[in-house]
Amino acid sequence: MDNENKNKRISSSEEKEIAEKEALELRLKKESANEAAIASGDFTDFDDELEAEREEALKEQVALNDKDIEPDKDAILEVRHLKKYFVLKKTILGKPISSLRAVDDVSFIVKPGETLGIVGESGCGKTTMGRTVLKLYQPTSGQVFFEGVDVAGMKEKEMRALRTKMQIVFQDPYSSLPPRSTVGDILAEPVKVHNIVPKNEVKDYVLELMESCGLRDYYYERYPHEFSGGQRQRICIARALAVKPKFIVCDEPVSALDVSIQAQIINLLKKLQIERGLTYMFISHDLSVVKYISDKIGIMYLGSMVEFGKKQDIFSNPLHPYTEALFSAVPNPNPDEKTERIVLTGDIPSPANPPKGCKFHTRCPKCMEICKHVAPEYKEHEDGHFCACHLYD
Ligand SMILES: Nc1ncnc2c1ncn2[C@@H]1O[C@H](COP(=O)(O)OP(=O)(O)OP(=O)(O)O)[C@@H](O)[C@H]1O
Ligand code: SF4
Ligand SMILES: [Mg+2]
Repeated sequence: MDNENKNKRISSSEEKEIAEKEALELRLKKESANEAAIASGDFTDFDDELEAEREEALKEQVALNDKDIEPDKDAILEVRHLKKYFVLKKTILGKPISSLRAVDDVSFIVKPGETLGIVGESGCGKTTMGRTVLKLYQPTSGQVFFEGVDVAGMKEKEMRALRTKMQIVFQDPYSSLPPRSTVGDILAEPVKVHNIVPKNEVKDYVLELMESCGLRDYYYERYPHEFSGGQRQRICIARALAVKPKFIVCDEPVSALDVSIQAQIINLLKKLQIERGLTYMFISHDLSVVKYISDKIGIMYLGSMVEFGKKQDIFSNPLHPYTEALFSAVPNPNPDEKTERIVLTGDIPSPANPPKGCKFHTRCPKCMEICKHVAPEYKEHEDGHFCACHLYD
């Protein structure tokens, strides 16, 4: 290589180094300008992109730091920094260009025998969260400890033994049962596949299961189309119970049923929970139902858990303005207690392009300037009562 070429290469690498140094200095300057803006409350020159990058990096760092912490011994389910992104667009090489953040850094704990109610408007990620916890969807990242074992990264083969312990009951009892099988066959199949009882005891086991779910023994030979919605949902519940699970995700299990039937199914779920020591994640739009059945409640908005806590704490002292708005719409049975209805205006933003700062700021009646730029931290305010809102900074 002649001297002239060598000098050119040195000067171009020097230029690159100088440019990188300048870019770093500029970034540090902008970062400290952002910090000063947060401290002073003047967001005129705030760099939202930079703040979003900082928040993302911080979330990743916290998830990484938490990775080696032992799971809670008292929990049947512990979810840490769970994310489920659906890829909307990829490069030719398969690299994601844009994603929809259906579940975005969700963490919580459920103890054995508890019911965790999950509420939030349509599209906030309730179903995706329930399915990802059960590994019916592969998590994008995060940890899901079931009885102390992290199942998030497990292969399907390893999951097989755990599958029986975690079950799901779907919203629509019409489409979730095979039309050409009898009730007996539908309930016997998982029992046989997972060797729950010896072969010669399967029929008796199924008949007993049917009885505990309020299904008459002569239904054994009948087909799903012969039943009403409520009875079909009883069959679905019996099918989930057939493999002796410990944890069941109930995804809007009564939403498709007549109001008169809803209470019967809810009471059946409660009875079965006591008899069998079951733990539920109960997903619903209906706050009255959630209030009746849950021990703890999680409120989701655009893929994030915005508030979480014991039912009494959430109902008597809702912290997040979104929770307040949701609860203000529930009719109060006491006519002497007047509750003012908080009407949320504006459309629900898309989880593919959520608002910067607090995701709820575009609809929040209590929105402050900081909310438009900086995402609030999800933190514990009282014992076991978590919330993500700048009102409590
Ligand atoms: N398989 C998928 N591919 C791409 N996007 C999806 C997929 N499943 C769900 N989504 C999107 O993820 C978001 C969360 O959907 P999800 O069904 O979990 O919401 P939800 O809270 O259960 O709503 P609903 O109350 O209507 O049942 C929505 O924006 C939805 O469109
Ligand atoms: S952080 Fe701000 S916008 Fe978000 S819920 Fe709290 S007050 Fe409303
Ligand atoms: Mg759903």
